[in-house]
Amino acid sequence: MSADTEQTRPRSSSLPVTKAVVPAAGLGTRFLPATKATPKEMLPIVDKPAIQYVVEEAVAATLRDVLMITGRNKRSIEDHFDRAYELEEALAIKGDDERLRSVRESDGLAQMHYVRQGDPRGLGHAVLCAAAHVGDNPFAVLLGDDLIESADLLRRMIEVREEYGGSVVALMEVEPEQVSLYGCAGIEPTDEPDVVTVTDLVEKPAPEQAPSRWAIIGRYVCDPAVFPVLQETPPGRGGEIQLTDALRELARRKPEDGGTVRGVLFRGRRYDTGNKADYIRTVVDFACRRPDLAAELLPWLREFVDRQGAQQG
Ligand code: G1P
Repeated sequence: MSADTEQTRPRSSSLPVTKAVVPAAGLGTRFLPATKATPKEMLPIVDKPAIQYVVEEAVAATLRDVLMITGRNKRSIEDHFDRAYELEEALAIKGDDERLRSVRESDGLAQMHYVRQGDPRGLGHAVLCAAAHVGDNPFAVLLGDDLIESADLLRRMIEVREEYGGSVVALMEVEPEQVSLYGCAGIEPTDEPDVVTVTDLVEKPAPEQAPSRWAIIGRYVCDPAVFPVLQETPPGRGGEIQLTDALRELARRKPEDGGTVRGVLFRGRRYDTGNKADYIRTVVDFACRRPDLAAELLPWLREFVDRQGAQQG
């Protein structure tokens, strides 16, 4: 094989997973006007911006190098993961150690890096913007709209990548009428009950065209072979370059060409914060499980629901 062909051929990487990529360039139009001047990633889940939970999950899964794909209007994300000297000094003078700790929590969390997407041409395009930073390393992708209760899922996905090579997606079984909201996978079992081989992927299929009810939730571990594939991936669903389409191509390739995709079956708790009703459910759920809020909130919630029921009935 000539040196030229050797260079352009996509190759699977055997390096460990140490980097996380977090796409955060979306316009957040579903939450307007709140997101007119504030990134949707900064909307609080109780008292912490949604994006901080995602970075905490990456760090808990040992990924301390976090690249955020941002765009216009996203400066406050960078500020959030940086020191805030004036605020810290004011809290220190007051002796408010608890708040000082909470303010400092986000700045020492991870090694944060930022790159701008420019044209918002879809999730696949956002991931492609990570190519220079990621290089030949396999890497995780965490979508900010999905909050996963523990880092066990991501840890398991990294383990599966180390065991099988290739790429790994997180899959959750959804109701048939919901498949059109997700990327859906055709799957075959492996010897491990929580791991499947992905044979096909379709982005947001009509229920009758879905290969199964197993939907991709926003966690991926990608082989760097995904980058040259993304470069060649034409716009798909919604006229956008879809990560799902690039992964379908990798699912069809041989391992030596960076191919094979596995799925880790997830049966835990996942929160969607991408639309208003789910966002509100997530905030209420998180608040009710907080020891400092539950005692006050739960009796009020019960009473509120009873009152609503009485009014409607
Ligand atoms: C994206 C992906 C989709 C995946 C979903 C998970 O879609 O394109 O394949 O199932 O995230 O949340 P989005 O919800 O950003 O439109």
